[in-house]
Amino acid sequence: MCGIVGYIGPRNATPIVLNGLKRLEYRGYDSAGLAVLTPQGVQVRREVGKLHRLQALVESEPLAGNLGIGHTRWATHGEPSRRNAHPHLSETGKVVVVHNGIVENFLALREELAAEGAQFRSDTDSEVIAHLIERFLSREADLVEASRQALQLLEGSNAVVVISTLEPDKIVAARLGNAGGVVIGFGEGEMLVASDLPAILEHTRRVAFLEPRQMAVVQAHGAEVMTLERRPVPVQPTVVPWDPVAAEKGAYRHFMQKEIHEQVRGLTDTIAGRVDFEGGKVFLDSLNLTPALARRVRKIFITACGTAYHAGLVGKVLLERIARVPVEVMVASEFRYADPLVSPDDVVLAISQSGETADTLAAMEEGRRKGATLWAIVNAIGSQAMRMADGYISMQVGPEIGVASTKAYTAPLVDLYMLAVLLGDLRGTLPEAERRRLVKDLRLTPDLVGQALAREEEVMAVARAMKEVRSCLYIGRGIDMATAYEGALKLKEISYIHAEGYPAGEMKHGPIALLDEETPVVAIAPQGPWYDKMVSQVEQAKARHARVIAVATEGDELIPPIADAVLWVPPAPWLLSPVVTVVPLQMLAYHIAAMRGLDVDQPRNLAKSVTVE
Ligand code: M6R
Repeated sequence: MCGIVGYIGPRNATPIVLNGLKRLEYRGYDSAGLAVLTPQGVQVRREVGKLHRLQALVESEPLAGNLGIGHTRWATHGEPSRRNAHPHLSETGKVVVVHNGIVENFLALREELAAEGAQFRSDTDSEVIAHLIERFLSREADLVEASRQALQLLEGSNAVVVISTLEPDKIVAARLGNAGGVVIGFGEGEMLVASDLPAILEHTRRVAFLEPRQMAVVQAHGAEVMTLERRPVPVQPTVVPWDPVAAEKGAYRHFMQKEIHEQVRGLTDTIAGRVDFEGGKVFLDSLNLTPALARRVRKIFITACGTAYHAGLVGKVLLERIARVPVEVMVASEFRYADPLVSPDDVVLAISQSGETADTLAAMEEGRRKGATLWAIVNAIGSQAMRMADGYISMQVGPEIGVASTKAYTAPLVDLYMLAVLLGDLRGTLPEAERRRLVKDLRLTPDLVGQALAREEEVMAVARAMKEVRSCLYIGRGIDMATAYEGALKLKEISYIHAEGYPAGEMKHGPIALLDEETPVVAIAPQGPWYDKMVSQVEQAKARHARVIAVATEGDELIPPIADAVLWVPPAPWLLSPVVTVVPLQMLAYHIAAMRGLDVDQPRNLAKSVTVE
């Protein structure tokens, strides 16, 4: 989705803004632009397509100044084009705006402004903001007051950043709803604003996040924050721990490949400091889970989107088996419309890498409205989900840049496992010996993932054989069902090959009709409670002449003679096995997409954090 960067200070804003936009490329976009206040007035460059095209335009038509804002656009209103790319200018060119989100009442506002004589130059909803601010400026408000009055008229969840030729010493930034974050970076004699941390981390790690309905007036020496009602808000910058180098590709060809390999380290950090192996205990302090709350919990509603939803499906098995708490998993985009039967004795647990996914935040709001305790498992530090929740578990895997989520899938699986152990312990539903065994097993996880990763070359051979297929089925049972869904999602989103995840037992109720020599089946069949059933599923697929690629446990002797290829994984305790079985599927999707020459990290039509409904 759209990205925003702004700079004010003694340096030339142009390279800083362009570089910041580069760091936001992973979010997905189709056009980009920047505006810089130069001695000749405000100058704007906008271009369709990837940032290197905007860069080339800036090289041929340079612009320099100490104040600049930039934007990467993911089209919602109007096709990707130069005229629809941001920044947008008011009629006189005195007000310049970049915007993330959707102005839900833009048609009404546009009609009203057009009736007053405003001429629109784009098809976007965003342009109305520039015109509105200019309307209030012409009524003798200053930039801050004009912006404040204009922003109050907007409906929807938006982030807006404004500069003006009339007041060249400031940037006005506002966050209007839950989606569309705004972070302010405090440098030495310079300040930055952005939609996301990676855009500014190379300049400063001292940051403050705006809450919904807050605006900031950012000047080179600092920032003032106030509510949209103009009540002052104390600004307390925090220091974020992320290392800018963590957001570099290093020796890897793509971020996705790097992030797949970072899982060993990520899982080590996920467990570190949260487990006492001697005593067989788990500690999740930031969750604020008291024994009283643990005993009171009637039901847990897990809500999330995409990959995070699949993690939730595994979480249901873990929490029900280990802690014996009933769990319902709901896609977040449906949650608030389903009028779910949530009561104050329930927990709504959101899982989100970005912590900014609009649907997930809306589901959390619904949980809050119904009086539930809110928990979140999030990766992005300081994100809205983290701040909304009564307690949270942070994923500890560092920034995830590739659009296809990988390390932010395996980390929450381990978080959910630890949560299940802690809950079972506090509720008295988990016998001590069992608890000690489960905690001991955790120690194995990073190494098991490392062993699965070491088989990358074998996975590449399978990828070579599969890279031209048109359609593919992924099947699994029980705890491996979610792995089938996740493997299929990985393949489809980055390789554009149709792939479907299916509960293996459902094959004979319909999907088996699809099977022939052209449609391979990826069968998740590790040793565990469903192994025998999966062996017969593989037989059934083979009987329909389908090519079978099986994920199987090293040492298995039944699978190799009946499968066409095997993706081996090391033996793992079955409740932790989803952390391991997904690894070859991540690598398979990655290599197929890379072999097809596709843009692995920024697949078409997708965005890293989906901040609109
Ligand atoms: O930031 P979130 O975890 O809330 O994002 C949820 C989904 O948008 C995300 O997992 C998406 O499905 C990924 N592209 C999957 O690889």
